[in-house]
Amino acid sequence: MPKSVAIVTGASQGIGEATAIRLARDFSALVLVARNQANLEQTAAAVRAGGAQALVIGADLSEPAAAQSVVDQTLAAFGRIDALLNIAGAVPQIDLFEMTDAQWEGGLALKLHGARRLTIAAWPALKAAKGAVVLMSGNSALFPKASYAAVGTINAAIVALAKAFSDRGIADGVQVNSVLPGPVMTGRRQSYLEHWAPLHNMTAAEATANFPKEAGIARYGEPEEIAEAMAFLVSPGARWMTGSTLRMDGGEVKSI
Ligand SMILES: NC(=O)c1ccc[n+]([C@@H]2O[C@H](COP(=O)([O-])OP(=O)(O)OC[C@H]3O[C@@H](n4cnc5c(N)ncnc54)[C@H](OP(=O)(O)O)[C@@H]3O)[C@@H](O)[C@H]2O)c1
Repeated sequence: MPKSVAIVTGASQGIGEATAIRLARDFSALVLVARNQANLEQTAAAVRAGGAQALVIGADLSEPAAAQSVVDQTLAAFGRIDALLNIAGAVPQIDLFEMTDAQWEGGLALKLHGARRLTIAAWPALKAAKGAVVLMSGNSALFPKASYAAVGTINAAIVALAKAFSDRGIADGVQVNSVLPGPVMTGRRQSYLEHWAPLHNMTAAEATANFPKEAGIARYGEPEEIAEAMAFLVSPGARWMTGSTLRMDGGEVKSI
């Protein structure tokens, strides 16, 4: 049995991929979850090159049965769960007055309920290992906008959900925190900029160049930088940190 096992959702690209590769330095085995198996295999190769075992699980985490299946496969392969990093997210970026019930439900089904169900399914193993959970939120939790209302609303709910899990985790020995990244250059950020550009009478290229200035930051974050924050939250050094929200945003939030 490996000495330490971490599950990373959204590991097929972007911040989840970078986090899985970073965690290969700290954990003996990584479980990589997303829908795109070919991309997950590429992450797995990088994880193995980094010195950890890797298990690829292709799953749509918006499906209710996926959470228990991921936990069952992890325990069958590795026998323990020390850390769970809920990073998968694909909340639609649609105007508040245009977004349908089905689109709201799609956003909630993955990012909120997918993370909630997987955390609950993994909880007994996390409790046994005195493990750690991270839930991915985002700075939009602090800046809800009408033009993409679900993103901020669901990210705010994630912060509250993490706090609720951390409350139970005090008695159960499981630490739970959330992360608020600012703008990080990934596939999701590019699709956001394509949405943002026409709202500001710009092309996507102009929006990509101008957005950091509009956001009051020097540059976009890199997925590898957020991966360092994720690695800290599941490290022994963060053991007394629970119920907290860690922001890493290049200074986007201007208030104290
Ligand atoms: N980039 C930013 O600026 C930023 C800022 C704040 C917060 N965030 C948050 O950080 C997280 C990662 O964002 P990112 O920028 O790295 O996005 P990304 O590059 O689009 O990656 C999203 C990940 O989620 C997975 N995913 C999507 N739908 C899924 C489903 N139904 N079941 C399982 N996995 C699914 C994707 O894999 P498959 O397509 O293979 O399933 C992919 O691995 C998201 O929760 C996002 O809201 C990002």
